[in-house]
Amino acid sequence: MSTVYDIGVLPGDGIGSEVVNEALKVLSAVEQIYGFTTKRQPLPYGAEHFLKTGEMMPDVAFERLRDMHAVVFGAVGDPRIEVGKLEFAIIAGLRHKLDLFVNLRPIKLYDASLCPLKGKQPADIDMMFCRENTEDAYVGMHGTTKKGTPDEIAVQQMLYTRKGTERIIRYAFELAKLRGPKPGWERSKVTLVDKANALRAQDLWTRVFNEVKAEYPDIDTDHAYIDAACMFMVKDPERFDVGVTTNLFGDIITDLGAELVGGMGIAASGNIHPGKVSMFEGIHGSAPDIAGKGIASPLATILAVALMLDHIGQPEAKVELEATVATLLQGGKIRSLRTGEHKCAELGDMVRDELLARARQAK
Ligand code: IPM
Ligand code: MN
Repeated sequence: MSTVYDIGVLPGDGIGSEVVNEALKVLSAVEQIYGFTTKRQPLPYGAEHFLKTGEMMPDVAFERLRDMHAVVFGAVGDPRIEVGKLEFAIIAGLRHKLDLFVNLRPIKLYDASLCPLKGKQPADIDMMFCRENTEDAYVGMHGTTKKGTPDEIAVQQMLYTRKGTERIIRYAFELAKLRGPKPGWERSKVTLVDKANALRAQDLWTRVFNEVKAEYPDIDTDHAYIDAACMFMVKDPERFDVGVTTNLFGDIITDLGAELVGGMGIAASGNIHPGKVSMFEGIHGSAPDIAGKGIASPLATILAVALMLDHIGQPEAKVELEATVATLLQGGKIRSLRTGEHKCAELGDMVRDELLARARQAK
């Protein structure tokens, strides 16, 4: 009997359902080639569901998810609803309630034409950022007093625990070990990105990083404050291999990184708890301006499904799916990722067809 994986499908809002449909189309081809199946469980949450029922994401939904292998996520956010409300309940809800402490964000250049920097080749930009995903300014400890008056005060806490800091830093070192050195490098490298010179609470990150790195003598280490790290991303992206950073800085620097490799249409992420149900999504939002037009790029969600394949125990399928997308970009079949250049479904079809063709050739 073939292996069956339980996969939650949460398209959400805006372009979410369009990109998720294409990613699932590609997943079906992967299943056919690798001989496993998925039982897909639709999850209706998002703006429409909230407007109809008043419910954002109930506890029973999180309970159901705990028994699944993974969730494919589209995007949430809708202009009709207060900023941050759905994002907090659904995205942060998943990350926090399922304890998805790793936000894994690959930044890999598949073709030189996708990079806005002069003269960069695919070998130059190939890094993995490990963004801590459950703490920092995202814990929701904030408040406002005297709202709307000239004396208004607003606060939001950045919170770091030793356990939370240690587990993401350890994950980054394990990832570096597993990944092995980049082509042309002798050793792997983990770079800590923080702002411990100004945010003294992040001294915890400095100390824990130094402790953990002592356990990995074969891995090189580096450090950059977030401001300098942003500068290096543009000036010298070659210097990065595996990066590890706090939740908020990871959010910001990976958008910058995404722009180096083709933008939001191709940037994937995994919200991971090793060995437990995890959630996979493009790092883009719901893009209400282009929703329903069929012109969003599904490549980010397709590459998020690749990360999911690795997580559920199909690492060969992951490598093959990424290679397929790379081939389409390098061979010029995907002309560019500019919005409108290709239809959403056209890109999904191209990836599916190329996958199936490669599988036929390999036989
Ligand atoms: C992301 C998004 C979210 C974040 C928002 C929607 C809350 O930007 O996944 O990167 O800040 O984490
Ligand atoms: Mn973001």
